[in-house]
Amino acid sequence: MSSDDHRQYAPATTRNRDPILGVLRSILPPSGLVLEVASGTGEHVVHFARALPELSWQPSDPSQEARRSIADWIATQGLENVRPPLHIDAAEEKWPIDHAGAVVCINMIHISPWASTEGLMRGAGRILDAGAPLYLYGPFRQATKPIEPSNAAFDESLRARNPRWGLRDLDKVVTCAGSHELVLDRVVEMPANNLSVIFRRT
Ligand SMILES: C[S@@+](CC[C@H](N)C(=O)[O-])C[C@H]1O[C@@H](n2cnc3c(N)ncnc32)[C@H](O)[C@@H]1O
Repeated sequence: MSSDDHRQYAPATTRNRDPILGVLRSILPPSGLVLEVASGTGEHVVHFARALPELSWQPSDPSQEARRSIADWIATQGLENVRPPLHIDAAEEKWPIDHAGAVVCINMIHISPWASTEGLMRGAGRILDAGAPLYLYGPFRQATKPIEPSNAAFDESLRARNPRWGLRDLDKVVTCAGSHELVLDRVVEMPANNLSVIFRRT
């Protein structure tokens, strides 16, 4: 990798991108703009954009390092349906985008303070049209079953890094979404004890 190449690599993305893509295929509209919040390295967005070329993709991340990586992933893949990354901090009141046909957020809500989840719901509720999806992916706590040992250990490690991080209670996330006109559509069990959680704007 040259010093001009800022691409980052998150090994988990190569494991989870196709299972996630499978769910996205079934919930995304056939065309329009998909906003990704917390794009991280950018590996997901280029994978999804290549597989779903009828859609336009808008990656974003509050980290400048991440945005550099995303920009370089887009450039090296030669994709025309991915826009340059935006600085979006989900927790902030204002987002630099007014409208999207879908919002996707992978592995953010447990690795950020609760205010990010609240902001994500507020922002998605504002920019999505009626019926449009908000897609979340990650590990959750569920009232209906005990937490898996791997998720309990992950939760502990997150809280040790930052006491405001940690696996979110799915019911609490659903309640928060509901206060921003987002209703739970479905929950899909994913590999490695993760969930896809899909909301729809009422
Ligand atoms: C674990 S990484 C996940 C990145 C990518 N979605 C993936 O699955 O590989 C968490 C990402 O969330 C971003 N993030 C943290 N707080 C955020 C916030 N308040 N709003 C938007 N993104 C945030 C971080 O900058 C980081 O890129």
